[in-house]
Amino acid sequence: MDPLLGDCSLDLLRQRRTWKWTRYPPDVIPAWLAEMDFDLAKPVKDAVRVAIEAGDAGYSRPQPAGFGEAYAAFAAERWGWAPDPGRVFAVPDVMTGIAEVLFGTTPHGSGVVLSPPIYPPFFFRLRLAGRQIIEAPMRRDAEGRYHLDPGAIDAALAQPDAAAYLLCSPHNPTGRVWSRDDLMTVASICARRGVVLLVDEIHAPLALPGARHIPFLSLGLDRDLAQRTFTFTSASKGWNTPGLKCGLAVVAEPEPAAVLRQRWEALLPSHLGVLATIAAFRDGVPWLEAVRAQLDDNRVQLSKLLATHLPSVGYQPPEASFLAWLDCTALNLDDPVAHFLDRARVALNPGLDYGAAGRGFVRLNMGTPPDMLQEILHRMGSSIGAQ
Ligand SMILES: Cc1ncc(COP(=O)(O)O)c(C=O)c1O
Repeated sequence: MDPLLGDCSLDLLRQRRTWKWTRYPPDVIPAWLAEMDFDLAKPVKDAVRVAIEAGDAGYSRPQPAGFGEAYAAFAAERWGWAPDPGRVFAVPDVMTGIAEVLFGTTPHGSGVVLSPPIYPPFFFRLRLAGRQIIEAPMRRDAEGRYHLDPGAIDAALAQPDAAAYLLCSPHNPTGRVWSRDDLMTVASICARRGVVLLVDEIHAPLALPGARHIPFLSLGLDRDLAQRTFTFTSASKGWNTPGLKCGLAVVAEPEPAAVLRQRWEALLPSHLGVLATIAAFRDGVPWLEAVRAQLDDNRVQLSKLLATHLPSVGYQPPEASFLAWLDCTALNLDDPVAHFLDRARVALNPGLDYGAAGRGFVRLNMGTPPDMLQEILHRMGSSIGAQ
């Protein structure tokens, strides 16, 4: 592994006090929650250390100095698109940003359309926010690849209560990176239906070699739709800092910027998270490149390990990020997660949390060193052999 990614020995990882590492007994390998096992990028560590040593841990401000500029420069370099730094807002995290924007733009009790299988808090957090969930499930082709279903999205948005569409781009848990055509189709449906469009691009910095992430706001939207479009991202997946609590809301027009400004008090991020985010986007690219290279290797290794240890499990390597969506239906297990936890001592996420289409699936976190990935697959394979 690249030395930038640090020493990820199991002993060191077990010293972490995060939920991922403390939920299960020490003989369980946690391959569930979406945080990676690599060490933090040095610029991120330095930013937080310097702030703590200076007692600089107070309140942030709604649009922190240098924040929009750091993201705009990163986006320009990576995607050839630079948002206006004045339209980049810090938020506590992506889900809080999404919930607050829904409060500010849609009526209580209205519907939000999602395309499952999808990140579980999209269901439960938005129900807690008093919104109904309307499903427009993705289509799965014969090879097991997922596709957005424009007909299903359009039909869902035609329902009288539907007020918003929430797109995950790149998509968790399938790892899909949407094409320009996919995004344009979503844009035209949302424009025609007159709904609020929320785009979650949290996994975008981790688009892997071969895939090109297209920021939604770079599409050149009609002003009418751009007035109702909010995109969200973060350094928290790419640089592994979700506990530092800082995300970004990015908009292109004054109207959505006004919604964010009005709600600033509910949206104040962690000051340490802001400093870490600026450091990540500005100085953390070498580390990000090391992670992307490792994840690129890991997704290939996972294909080989599955062929050896669990040949009947379906897997399409993700185009972005570190999550593998595994089709375990051919294993005929009543509860695949309970089986792998009990018999393999490996913790995974249950597919059903991602919607009904996730029955028989598990989500595996492969943001881990290759020897750990091998051990995970070895354990899972042995548990099936030993059934
Ligand atoms: C698609 C997606 N959105 C949002 C989040 C959570 O982000 P935050 O902690 O910033 O709310 C995750 C975390 O894994 C995610 O995968």
